[in-house]
Amino acid sequence: MSKILITRRTFQEAEDKLKKAGSEVVIWGEPDSPGYEELLKEIRDTDGLYAHITNQVDGAVMDAAPNLKVITEFGVGYDNIDVDAANKRGIAVCNTPGILSESTADEAFALLMAMGRRTHDLPQLVKRGEWGDFDPLAYLASDIHHKTLGIVGMGRIGGEVAKRAAGFNMEVLYYNRNKRDEEFGATYVSSLDELLQRSDYVSLHNPLTPETTGLMGSEQFKLMKKSAMLINTTRGPVVDQEALYDALTAGEIAGAALDVTVPEPIPADHPLLTLDNCLIMPHVASATDDTRLKMAMMCVDNVLAGLAGDWPPYCVNRDQISDNARIKQ
Ligand code: 8YV
Repeated sequence: MSKILITRRTFQEAEDKLKKAGSEVVIWGEPDSPGYEELLKEIRDTDGLYAHITNQVDGAVMDAAPNLKVITEFGVGYDNIDVDAANKRGIAVCNTPGILSESTADEAFALLMAMGRRTHDLPQLVKRGEWGDFDPLAYLASDIHHKTLGIVGMGRIGGEVAKRAAGFNMEVLYYNRNKRDEEFGATYVSSLDELLQRSDYVSLHNPLTPETTGLMGSEQFKLMKKSAMLINTTRGPVVDQEALYDALTAGEIAGAALDVTVPEPIPADHPLLTLDNCLIMPHVASATDDTRLKMAMMCVDNVLAGLAGDWPPYCVNRDQISDNARIKQ
């Protein structure tokens, strides 16, 4: 019987489907994710790992589980998994692409609108009883319509954000490694600098890689318009948070909305949390009931296919492991 380790609780449907397929399913029962040492111990006789962003899955973790054939990430980003290490060992790595693009784009757009139309800070003022007499010059926000949105990273999620922006009559620019065939009405710009200089809102949708770590730093904030706002729903390390704090306090940019931070959770005494022009959400872009269930079922399909000796539907390293895949042995 194959053993599957799930490192956080999951939907009952997902658990049931795994069990029905005849697997032993071990769900990490603690309220917090297993730490690295705990994962090393817990994974020992595991065949399939259903992992989450909080798990660092490196070569040592893989070596602790000699039977490990397949790893699925609950999410589209799998920067917490060492794919090179998995390739060397013939372990299939999978994720949940596509299904969460629209929910993530919805949240990115919600953050953009919250910053633009100040739904993040004005309600607080009302709650504090500070809603003053009518003043034509008070509580002014920024328009969304006819403003320029710069999308960094035009993959599936970036494309969905562009579609939403089109409905708001925004001009949309995008910067991507390659110009895309399907541009959703967006205009390609060949440099990040140009995108930053021209945009009123900048939304990040590139994966976290060594090249994109610290992509947004003090130089980049200086290039942005003083009225511009940054939206980050990708990964925290893409933004240099100290530089962001400096840019927000110096008025180099007008605001930032972050769904992702370094670390996660961000400590309650973090300087960014003292700023009225910074909105932080607890990494929830994909967190709707429908989308999270679909993600869980994709993880189940990935693991079950791999353990049955078939290529998982959302395998990211099939080409790299086709000669030494453990699922085929
Ligand atoms: C996940 C995400 O919720 O898909 C991603 O890359 O960041 C989110 O959808 C997160 O990875 C939790 O595992």
